[in-house]
Amino acid sequence: MKLTQRDLAHIWHPLTQHQTARAPVGIVKASGSVLIDEHGNSYIDGIASWYTAMFGHCNPYITQAMTKQMQTLDFVMFSGFTHEPAIELSEKLVAILPPNQQKVFFNDNGSTAVEAAIKMAIQYYHNKSQKRDTLIAFEDGFHGDTFGAMSASGLSSYNGPFEDFLLKVKRIPTPQDHNLEEVLALLTTILEQNSCAGFIFEPLVQGAAGMKFHSAKGLDALIAKCKAHDVLCIADEIMTGFGKTGTNFAVEQLQHTPRYYVPK
Ligand SMILES: Cc1ncc(COP(=O)(O)O)c(C=O)c1O
Repeated sequence: MKLTQRDLAHIWHPLTQHQTARAPVGIVKASGSVLIDEHGNSYIDGIASWYTAMFGHCNPYITQAMTKQMQTLDFVMFSGFTHEPAIELSEKLVAILPPNQQKVFFNDNGSTAVEAAIKMAIQYYHNKSQKRDTLIAFEDGFHGDTFGAMSASGLSSYNGPFEDFLLKVKRIPTPQDHNLEEVLALLTTILEQNSCAGFIFEPLVQGAAGMKFHSAKGLDALIAKCKAHDVLCIADEIMTGFGKTGTNFAVEQLQHTPRYYVPK
């Protein structure tokens, strides 16, 4: 039996309506930007498997390093334990992050990274005995499929059944040259009328919205306004991170870099 038939017997795929979707393509091999299916057809993986294969599939350096690591220490729980690869990775990440970033919290996917960032923003104010229950996010943003991430996402075709259970989020349009004053005015009203914990955004480009760009100057102005109201700014660089916008991280193109901890 071909992969496609075996798949259909037992597997549900993400972001897929199985009544209407075509059968999935069975992939058996990948190299660089090319995928090979079970019939020998090749495809260019133009979306880099949802932005994640930016160093190329089966990258020999990464494959070798992973093989070596799996033979030495495969996994250890991270609560109460630590290890050299995690420490080295955090040191290397902090070295290339904007200078106001000092700490790394590891997650295994984009949605849970967003979830953790949202929880940090809410918990930060909880620890200060403040109930801040609202997030600010862009219209048409996409941040993932867990509950906090779904709440922050404006693209809601998959969120319908869950809408009554989502977090409180106020939305603003992305800043463009023609609307900056209006967006700033709307943000000011939201900040004045709500208890906002965090502003979450995809910096410079909204990937799932169709690679929709906005202005760095405009985003800077919005972050500055949020910071003036002590609202924590969360840059979701799941898509833009690691060189996609010409700098390691899109926030390097801003004057106001986000941070989750503001020492007083
Ligand atoms: C900007 C952004 N945030 C979060 C996510 C969610 O990531 P994941 O699918 O790994 O949960 C995505 C996924 O495409 C994304 O583009």
